[in-house]
Amino acid sequence: MIELRNVIKSFGDKAVLKGVNARFDKGKTNLIIGASGSGKTVLQKCMVGLLKIDSGEILFSGTDFVTMSGEDRKLLRQQIGMLFQGSALFDSMTVEQNVMFPLDMFTKWTRGEKLERVNFVLERVDLKGVNAKRPDEISGGMKKRVGIARAIVLKPKYLFCDEPNSGLDPRTSMLIDKLIHEITKENDITTIINTHDMNSVMEIGENILYLDQGKEEWKGTNKEIIFSKHEKLNDFIFASEFLKDAKDMRALEERGIIDNDRNMDKILKEGSIDTGEGKE
Ligand SMILES: Nc1ncnc2c1ncn2[C@@H]1O[C@H](COP(=O)(O)OP(=O)(O)OP(=O)(O)O)[C@@H](O)[C@H]1O
Ligand SMILES: [Mg+2]
Repeated sequence: MIELRNVIKSFGDKAVLKGVNARFDKGKTNLIIGASGSGKTVLQKCMVGLLKIDSGEILFSGTDFVTMSGEDRKLLRQQIGMLFQGSALFDSMTVEQNVMFPLDMFTKWTRGEKLERVNFVLERVDLKGVNAKRPDEISGGMKKRVGIARAIVLKPKYLFCDEPNSGLDPRTSMLIDKLIHEITKENDITTIINTHDMNSVMEIGENILYLDQGKEEWKGTNKEIIFSKHEKLNDFIFASEFLKDAKDMRALEERGIIDNDRNMDKILKEGSIDTGEGKE
C-alpha cells in the first residue's frame, strides 16, 4: 500500500500538486485520472523519487520515502517497476537485453538464471521467442508488453504505469489493461496507472483518484463513477453527449426502470423511452 499525505510540489512559482492525499491499495489496479496538465505524471514521478516534493509524506507500506535513509531508498527503488509512456526501450538492444537490463543492474545472478527469468516474463506477456528482435522490428502493442516484462522482471511490490494505452487501438489497449490487471492480482502488487482512457476506467478502475488542478477532487471505484453526481467528474468522464446518455441509461437500468433486454430498435423508432416515471 502507498499513502500520500498532503503532497505539495511546485516548479518555481507554479504550484502543480497542491496538497494531495490518497491511498493506493495492494493487489489492486489503482488509477489516477484527470485532465491534461492536472499533475498525474508529476505525481507518479514524485512517488518513484524522480522528482523531489516540497513537503508532505509518501508512505510505502507505512515508511516515508522522503525521510528514509539512502540505503533503504535504494532497496525500495528495486521493488518499484515502471512502465514509461512510449515504453522507453533501448533501441540498440534486443528484446532480451532490454528485459535483462534490470537483472544486470541489480542482481548477481548467473547468465543462465537471468535468462530463465527473462524467458519466464516474456512468456507471461505472450512474447515467447521474440528475444532476438529489436524494438523497431515489433509493433507498439508488443513494445508495451516488452515494457511490462521489463517492469516486472525484478518481481516488484509496486508497479507504476504512465498512460500504458497511449497510441494503441482500443482492442490492444484492453488486452494491455487486462494483462496489467492479471499480473497485479497474481503477484499482489500495488499498481498505479495514470490514464486518460475511459475504457480502462470502466474495466480496471478498482480504486480511482480524480485529480483536478493538482488536488484530489474525487475518489472511488468504477461502479461508483457511473452513479456519481460530482459535476466536475461527470463533465470530465462523460465528456460527450453520447456518454452522458449512456450513463443515464445505465442509471435507469440499475433502478429497474428500464429493462436490460430493451429493444433498441423499437426505442430508436419511437424516439423516447417509457421510463414509467410520472405514472400513477
Ligand atoms: N519539469 C517541469 N518543470 C516545470 N513545469 C513542469 C515540469 N513538469 C511538469 N510541469 C508542469 O506541471 C503540470 C502538470 O504536468 P503533468 O505532466 O503532471 O500533467 P499530466 O496530468 O500528466 O498531463 P497529461 O495527461 O497531458 O500527461 C503542467 O502544467 C506542466 O507544465
Ligand atoms: Mg502525463
